[in-house]
Amino acid sequence: MTLDSKLPHVGTTIFTTMSQMAAKSGAINLAQGFPDFPAPAYLLERLAHHGQAGLNQYAPMAGAPPLLSGIERLSARCYQRSVDAESMVTVCSGATEGLFVAIQSLVHSGDEVIVFDPCYDSYAPAVELAGGSCVHIPLMPPAYHIDWQALESSITPRTRCIIVNSPHNPTATCLDRAGWLELERIVLKHQLWLISDEVYEHIVFDGAERLSASCFPALAERTAIVSSFGKSFHCTGWKLGYVIAPPELTAEFRKIHQYVTFSSFTPAQYAIADMLTEHPEHIDELGSFYQQKRDLFVRELAGSRLTLLPSAGTYFLLADYSAISDLDDMAFCRWLTTERGVAAIPLSVFYQSPPDTRIIRLCFAKGDDTLIAAAEKLCQL
Ligand SMILES: Cc1ncc(COP(=O)(O)O)c(C=O)c1O
Repeated sequence: MTLDSKLPHVGTTIFTTMSQMAAKSGAINLAQGFPDFPAPAYLLERLAHHGQAGLNQYAPMAGAPPLLSGIERLSARCYQRSVDAESMVTVCSGATEGLFVAIQSLVHSGDEVIVFDPCYDSYAPAVELAGGSCVHIPLMPPAYHIDWQALESSITPRTRCIIVNSPHNPTATCLDRAGWLELERIVLKHQLWLISDEVYEHIVFDGAERLSASCFPALAERTAIVSSFGKSFHCTGWKLGYVIAPPELTAEFRKIHQYVTFSSFTPAQYAIADMLTEHPEHIDELGSFYQQKRDLFVRELAGSRLTLLPSAGTYFLLADYSAISDLDDMAFCRWLTTERGVAAIPLSVFYQSPPDTRIIRLCFAKGDDTLIAAAEKLCQL
């Protein structure tokens, strides 16, 4: 029997492939983007507490009330935006669910969605399942700036929405205020929707302003903001995130969310709510926490033949290996993992039409000893 696939071009993700290869070869895994250090002790204690206290049944579909209030306060504190959680916030099972459901809510058959390559890999399959298609606009090294003219000339009567991600995985660049304003102008002029993937929203470096679609009121009216507690609290395995959207879009979002997961892991919702109340500083210190790791890793790599690109946010660093090898980036990552003991992600997999570059992505959300050990291996290349 042959099964007619709805996603004929989709295979196993590069993250699974490289992590499996890393495990098999005993390589240091700087490929998949997850921390190898524990979540805050208080958060873990609250998780156990709420489980033992009996909060183990379905949470309300839109989210546990204390967490919804926590998200309201977070938005007010970080971006001076007042959101009404009852009509505008939905807790979901990771940003992955948030993105998927936001896309299903907005995209109809035949619609076009503009994405920027290198582009996070979950967007295109979700757009395809909704019956739409992605229009890919490449971002080019070393700056990976959005070409606003190219964006505007890609808009057609079928364009329904744009997906942006800032701070950006994998390039570690951030949209500045002028960029957000340009995006706002284009979204409003063409009456589009925006899906703003802000999972690394708190991880920005060198004193840069934390910016979100929430900082731009007219843009926020047409935006689904998707964020992830996994990234902010070192607990990616909890798969807890949320979406802030205007009431009309939230209503549509919840219609779908209730049949995808209905609600998300209850004790974790209460634990994160406690963390937001008792330790608001955790989120404010996240940028400097990861900046120290970036700086350590960059320092340790100073003697290597890799050319490092600037990392302004996220927990990723791009490295150009063209002084070391002529291999294409997939072959280089395979060799680096199996022969040299460090797993990385090839950048070309995030492009529809990859440019002719030799660049890999390294994740520095790792303990300092791991970063030092990985850098030592990379310096020997
Ligand atoms: C840009 C981006 N969006 C979304 C996600 C998914 O987040 P979550 O683990 O909360 O589903 C990730 C995870 O790596 C990501 O890097």
